[in-house]
Amino acid sequence: MAPDTGHRWVGAVGGAAVAVALATGLAIWHPSNLYPWLKAFHVIAVIAWMAGMLYLPRLFVYHCEAEPGSRQSETFKVMERRLRRAIVNHAMVASWALGLWMVYDGSWISAHWLHAKLLLVVALSGIHGMLARWTADFAADRNRHTGRFFRIINEIPAVLMIGIVILVVIKPF
Ligand code: HEM
Repeated sequence: MAPDTGHRWVGAVGGAAVAVALATGLAIWHPSNLYPWLKAFHVIAVIAWMAGMLYLPRLFVYHCEAEPGSRQSETFKVMERRLRRAIVNHAMVASWALGLWMVYDGSWISAHWLHAKLLLVVALSGIHGMLARWTADFAADRNRHTGRFFRIINEIPAVLMIGIVILVVIKPF
């Protein structure tokens, strides 16, 4: 295993252990105003997740125009990798964890708006997976898509986000 990969694993396991310890402590203590705090951090995590989901395809559009192996292309690779690893992945995990905790804590499980929201969030998570794959393709200089393709992909997270926010705030059903 490369030293860099080893450090990343130690960091990831350490981070997960701290998160689990924090969550267990809070679940046992359960202060009376826990729910609004969960919601506040859920919204913060969702903002960070969406920032990456909107920015990554935009980076891909510009990356398509850079010659593979050029200095510009290598810079895009670093930007894409860091954005995904440092922000987008963690923000997605935090959004899911805090969201599911609120589903449990607020007894929302039978609410129809939540089922519709989860459908859209699963689609958003699917796009997240595709973005991870395309990042890996760019990193290996084997991207097969055009800038126009990524311009269209760029619209999908925005449309899903609008639906998700309307469902959770308006709760139409
Ligand atoms: C990842 C899975 C997710 C789950 C399980 C989840 C679940 C929830 C739950 C149960 C609430 C509390 C609703 C209430 O108290 O009225 C909530 C609030 C909220 N969620 Fe999510 N959510 C998820 C992802 C997202 C995403 C991706 C977005 C935006 C793109 C989002 C935006 C919001 C907003 C803005 C609120 C605050 C609504 C309000 O206070 O009126 N959520 N979420």
